[in-house]
Formats: sequence, structure tokens, C-alpha cells
Amino acid sequence: MKNILEAPFLVEMVRTCTNMYQHGWDERNGGNISWLLDEAEVAEYLDVNAVLRDIPTGFEAPALEEKYFLVTGTGKYFKNVQYDPAHNLGLIRLSEGGKTAQLLWGFTGGGKFTSEFPAHMMSHAARLSVDPENRIVMHCHPANLLAMTYVHDLDSRSFTRTLWQMCSECVVVFPEGVNVLPWMLCGTNEIGQATAEQMGTARLVVWSQHGIYGAGKDLDETFGLIETAEKAAEIYMKIAHLPLKNTITDEQLHLMEERFGVKAREGFLD
Ligand code: 13P
Ligand code: ZN
Repeated sequence: MKNILEAPFLVEMVRTCTNMYQHGWDERNGGNISWLLDEAEVAEYLDVNAVLRDIPTGFEAPALEEKYFLVTGTGKYFKNVQYDPAHNLGLIRLSEGGKTAQLLWGFTGGGKFTSEFPAHMMSHAARLSVDPENRIVMHCHPANLLAMTYVHDLDSRSFTRTLWQMCSECVVVFPEGVNVLPWMLCGTNEIGQATAEQMGTARLVVWSQHGIYGAGKDLDETFGLIETAEKAAEIYMKIAHLPLKNTITDEQLHLMEERFGVKAREGFLD
């Protein structure tokens, strides 16, 4: 059996948590990541029949039965993941229709998966139904996106249009736009269901006055999505209080669509 601390999925997860912390997106225990893994890649490092303990999830996710996830722990600090991955991360397999998470590695000292596990698992199921390649769900608290939800209206079309207008390449990176949820109580099945519903039409879902969710086929893509939206929000927060002299017009956004072979979300451009 190979050393799991050298598994590419573990090394990349640790690097990403560290990088997100360095970006200021994950203060204290803020943020969480889940990564859907194949049984074959897990089995190179772990005896998949050796269950350390069962952890109830409090929801059902039949579409994810027998699926493996590397996931960040609740209350754990992203800045510390690099120093003790086994304490701050866990590798689980869902069973009993998603009602139980079988712990195979990690969460040493009695830890468990993130309190946002419902939003993560329900979002995985939602993304997989529209994109079988989806592997990652990532949540964090980037300051400018969060700030924007205090001063911008929260309609998804209007919020998306503003982000697209802030940097030319936004429409290329997230042509489907972002979906915006109003403030909701975090850590609940209800916010999980609402997030998953929004994940049906976009890989980015903003949680007003809280943070953002991203989904993608790998950590780079998902990180890059959030990074691009956050950069656009940063520009908005720099200029929102100033007289606007120029913008990117819908005509120009259509030119970007043509040049890069992407299609902006139906109805989001005039
Ligand atoms: P966890 O520590 O449970 O992952 O919670 C962090 C967070 O960002 C809640 O929304
Ligand atoms: Zn959060």
C-alpha cells in the first residue's frame, strides 16, 4: 500500500487549502472543500474495507451511494492543513443512501466533515447530473464578493452582468454567470438544497453576506472560477462609488463570445 500523504489528490488538496488561506479567503475555520475520488485511486493508498468509524450525515443522497470524497473537517483551519493533513482532512465513503459517511482515513482526534457537508454533497449530485466530469465543490469567504452582496442588488442576472463588465475575460471564464442566493442559515440541509438547485445552471453560487460556492472538474478550474469572480468583484468595489465613464458593452461581450467560442447564459445579455 502506498503512502497516502504522497497521493497526488492529498498533495494537491493541501496545496490548495494553503493557497486559499494565503488569498485571505479562509479566515479561521472559514471555507471547505470536497473532492470526489475514484475507488481505484483510493485503493492504491487505503484498504477500502477498513472503516474507522461511521458518521451520520443527517441527509440522503442516493445518487452518491458508494462514492468516495476527500473533505475538509469542521472547525479546522485551512492555514493548518499543511502541518497535519490527517487531523484536518478526512476521506469518507457514503453508504446507506448517503445517510452514513464511512470514515476511511483522517479526522484524527474525533473530528468530522465540514458543517457544510449537505451543501457539498447535494451540489455534487446536482453538478454530476449536468456534468459527469465534475469532481470538486469549494466554498470560501472572499472579501470583495462578500462586500458586493451588501451594496449590489442580488438578482442573479444583474449581479452576473456587473461581474462580466468588470474584466473582459469574465464572460469567457464563467459564461453561465453566477447564481445568487439571499442570506440563509448556513450548515443546514435547506441551504444545501437551495445551493444544489442553483448549481443546476451555474458553477458559481454566491451566498449573500457569507461567501461563494464553486464547482468544477478539478481544483485548478474551481479555484480559477472563484479567483476570476473575486477579481471582478474587487474592481467593482474599487469603482462603485466613483462616476462611471466607461464600461464593457453588451455588444463587446457578444464579440468576446464569438472570439472565444462561448455562449453567455440565455437572456443575460441584451
Ligand atoms: P466548517 O468549519 O464547518 O467547514 O465551516 C466553515 C464555513 O465556512 C461555514 O460556512
Ligand atoms: Zn462559510
